[in-house]
Amino acid sequence: MIIAIDGFSSTGKSTVAKRLAAALNFIYVDTGAMYRMVALVAIRQGWVQDGYLDEAALVHHLPKIALDFQRGAQGENMAMLNGEEVEAAIRTMEVNRIVSRVSSIPALRRQLVAQQQRMGRGHSLVMDGRDIGTVVFPDAELKIFMTADADIRAGRRLSELRAKGDASVSLEEVRSNLLQRDAADQARLDSPLLKADDARVLDNSHRSADEVFQVALDWAHEKQKA
Ligand code: DC
Repeated sequence: MIIAIDGFSSTGKSTVAKRLAAALNFIYVDTGAMYRMVALVAIRQGWVQDGYLDEAALVHHLPKIALDFQRGAQGENMAMLNGEEVEAAIRTMEVNRIVSRVSSIPALRRQLVAQQQRMGRGHSLVMDGRDIGTVVFPDAELKIFMTADADIRAGRRLSELRAKGDASVSLEEVRSNLLQRDAADQARLDSPLLKADDARVLDNSHRSADEVFQVALDWAHEKQKA
């Protein structure tokens, strides 16, 4: 069984996806982390200068990038880039600023989509991203599209960045980055962010994480019984 969770940035997709995967004993795959790891490579190689990305250099380098996930000691999900754990390094504002640009590259999307589809072979999984229900798994048994009010999303994301020790960033910067990423994700030509026709909408603005999880779990149980 495949559960596809798509939606705007910081709507709580990964929180729901992780809890669903744990409750159902499915694998969890965070596809945003895959695009973030590639963005981190571009930054580290010096291919991002003043917001400009050297796309040709990055595409040429793609065969040398190995993306993977491992479980940590507490069962946490760890993004692995060429064998290095980069979970914290991919969740910075520096990566946030360039990741939509990176994720609009068709050659990269083709490679990552193929890897994501291989992950689903022979496994039940919960996968979150932007194009999971539309492109990666158009036949997913359950598709959820998550939304939430922009101010609420920005407030939550700011708290996460502050908890990680990033005190430099303002609420306004986080909010405008979220809105810019949403606009770029919706506007890109290759597999833009859009709700699949058969996706169920889950609005996370005024519900607790527990309530949102319960709704999603009920939907998953319905599909398992069907
Ligand atoms: O979910 P996230 O914020 O970690 O995703 C990071 C970026 O990657 C986001 O701006 C859009 C892009 N992305 C994508 O284009 N397709 C996906 N399946 C997942 C993420």
